[in-house]
Formats: sequence, C-alpha cells, structure tokens
Amino acid sequence: MSYLIVTSRSPISHEKIGGNETVKKNVGGVVTALSRAMKQDGGTWVCWGDGNLDGRYPDENYDGYRIVRVFMSSRERKGFYDDYANGTLWPLFHYFRDRMKLTSSGMNYYRQINEKYADAVVRNVKAGQRIWIHDYQLALLPKMLRERGIENQILMTWHIPWVASEFYATLPEAKELLEGIIASDMITFHTELYKKNFLESCDSLLGKKDDVEGKLFVFSLGIDTSYYSGNPANRQNIELKNNRKLILSIDRLDYTKGLVNRALAIENLVRRYPDDARKFTYVMIVTPSRTSVAEYINMKRDLEMTVGRINGSYSDLTWQPILYLYRRVTDRQLMNYYRSANVALIAPLIDGLNLVSKEFVAATRNGVLILSRFAGASFSLGAALKVNPYDLNEVADKLHDALHMNENEIKFRLESMKENVMKRDINWWLAEISSTADMLERKLNGSAESIRNTH
Ligand code: G6P
Repeated sequence: MSYLIVTSRSPISHEKIGGNETVKKNVGGVVTALSRAMKQDGGTWVCWGDGNLDGRYPDENYDGYRIVRVFMSSRERKGFYDDYANGTLWPLFHYFRDRMKLTSSGMNYYRQINEKYADAVVRNVKAGQRIWIHDYQLALLPKMLRERGIENQILMTWHIPWVASEFYATLPEAKELLEGIIASDMITFHTELYKKNFLESCDSLLGKKDDVEGKLFVFSLGIDTSYYSGNPANRQNIELKNNRKLILSIDRLDYTKGLVNRALAIENLVRRYPDDARKFTYVMIVTPSRTSVAEYINMKRDLEMTVGRINGSYSDLTWQPILYLYRRVTDRQLMNYYRSANVALIAPLIDGLNLVSKEFVAATRNGVLILSRFAGASFSLGAALKVNPYDLNEVADKLHDALHMNENEIKFRLESMKENVMKRDINWWLAEISSTADMLERKLNGSAESIRNTH
C-alpha cells in the first residue's frame, strides 16, 4: 500500500553550513519509523521545508520516495510553530496550564498553515493512496481534506499525551481541533490512557462517542531493534576513571523533561547517601530544541544555573557529579553511551512515549533503567525502576538502588523488558497500523456494498 505521509518535520533538509551545502538528516524516532515505511512502499511525504536551502528543493526524490515541501514566511512560522503549536498546544497537552499562551493570531496562523498543508496534499495525493497525518501540529488537516473533497482513507497518529477531558476543555478551540481530528478514518495513540481521554473529550465536548470509538486504536511506537541491539562498527566503550558508574540521560531541552528535577535528584542522592558520592558521574546530554520559543531560552538558563550550583557545591579536584553536555550527538556516540552506561535516568515530568528508554533497553547488556511513571513507555516497560519525577527523595533512593543492584536482578529485569521491546519494534508498529487500516477499509467497502444491494 502506498502512503502519503504528512508531518511537521521533514526527513531531510538542505542547509548551507560554513559555506557548504549539506543534507541534514532528521534522526528523531518518528521520522526514522516513517522513513522505513516510505522506503518499503514508495509514496509521498509532505512536510515543512525549514532548511535554509530547502527553497531550492520544493520537491525531490529521495531514498525511493518523493518529498514535497510546504514553506512558511517568518511571520507564519512564528504564529504556527512558536505561538500556537509550541506556545499553546504543547503545554496544554503536557498539563502545563500556566505556560499556555492564548493568542487569537496564533490560532489564525495555525489554521492558515494547516490549509497550506491541505492544498499540498490535494495537489499530490493519488487515487487509492492512504493519507497518514502525524501529531499535534496538524490537528485540523483531516477535516480540511474532507472539505476539499478528498475521499482517500485518512489515518492520524497522535504522538503526545491526550490530557483529561476537563483539562483539554480549557482550550478555546477545543471543539474545532476535535472536529478536525475525528474527520480521520482511524486515529492511533501510544497508550490506552490517551485514547480514553480523547474519547471522553469527544463525548463531553461534541456529544460524539459511539461514532468515534471504532476509529480509535492503541499502538505504542517501537524502535529499530536490529540497529540498537546489534554491534555497530567502531563502537567504543566509555570508561570513567576509578571505575565510576555512569548514569546517563539524553533529552531535548524541554520543560516537560524535568531536567532541573533530575539534577536536584542527583544532589539528593549525594546528600542522602554520602558514600555514593565519587562513585558515579551523571552524564546529562541535552540537545538544543525550539530555540526560537522564549520559554525554551529561559529554561536553558535555569538548568545551567542549577547544574553549576550543584557541581560548585560537590565537586573536588578529582570528581564532579554532573557532566552536562549541551549538543547534538551522532548515532554512533549515542550507541557508545547506551552500551557503557550503568544506569539510564529517564525521568520526564510527562512524555507521550519516550523512545530513549526503549533504545536503552535494546542496546544495553547490563544497565538499569529508571523510568518516570508519567512516560508513555512506562506502560510497556513494567520491569523498569519506576519513579515519580516530582518526588526527589524517591528518585534519589532509586538511583541508590540502581547503583547497587546485583547482576541477577539487573539481568532479570532487562530480559523481560527486552522481550517486549524486541517483539513490539518498528516493524510490528507499522504492520499493526497497516493491517488495522486494511481491516477498516474492508469494513467500509463491505457496508457500502450492502447499502448498494439494498437499494
Ligand atoms: C515531539 C513531537 C514531534 C516533534 C518533536 C521535535 O517528539 O511529538 O511532533 O517533531 O517533538 O520537536 P520539533 O518542534 O523540533 O519538531
């Protein structure tokens, strides 16, 4: 089956860096999964052309499929991306009511950009092609496509949490977004909780439950396990001095990730368990993200002040508790970290899924996973050490347990998590979504047939 995929982010962008034209690959989990689907079956990918040389490539063939780019002026980018998608919707869908900005101009730009995507889809979709739309940046698109007379099957995958309906109802455009999404034929979430919250929102705000319920499914996104569990060439072990244990985290710089809390939990560990001091180093890798959004700029300052204060209080000439790295890392470097880490501290305040936790489980041979109860992945990684990221004492206690866990327990916990991650990998995810869409299509064709027969 050929897909027309629609996302905000692009699989590749063209950039001029240091005078040279380069192709930048987007390495996020969603894009990696979707690239695989496109490589298998060809098709078209409609996405945002935000690279500084993308204007030269409004469409191009890449890796066996076609990329079609949507362009935005800087005003449109600010209104759509900074103000509404990331200034209103992102905090709303992560329960950060105080950070939620409400501007009518943001919503106007959001509508305008969804219209632009709709026009691009209409221009490029082929008869019988399946349209697969992704995430909160494009909630209005399914309905806009129906209004333009598109009859192709439409799938929507929601990659972030769906909040409780009474919380969602605080969004002034709550009904409009819901109407936009439910124009799809099939909607998928990463957890049962998000699906349940979505259905309750449809029921309480639109009075629509029965007609929506049959469209909703839960498939938690998987990873490319063959890559993470394999043995890539040039892999290097990272060894810390004096046999120190390596505690690792890697996240986009985002307030939902609870990075300040993680640094404070490390401070708590040293306070509560002074014997653990000097026996570990916490390597906190933070990748730059949404640097044009004001909230994100302030957050970086707060995090760096906290890390600096903690290191200032506890370091000596031979040890520093937190090694803070603010940069992107390559796939190879990441694998080296995953394989070398003794503990992964994945403690977001809330997270739609969190693929890092699954990648770590697939890659590590003897590591311990500490995982936030509020990450979508915690529903499928039952044997992780679960923490409430707001409870800094609990996180410190679990860190202490992880640093001292015996090999048998580590192996026992890992085995059950590996089994789940291996079974429910990227291929499983793509296959489940595709066979469910096939089933819905057959059902629809069947009922159209019986309506014809009764007339
Ligand atoms: C989350 C969202 C994605 C988004 C990604 C990176 O994973 O679910 O839709 O693309 O963050 O954020 P960005 O703003 O850089 O696209």
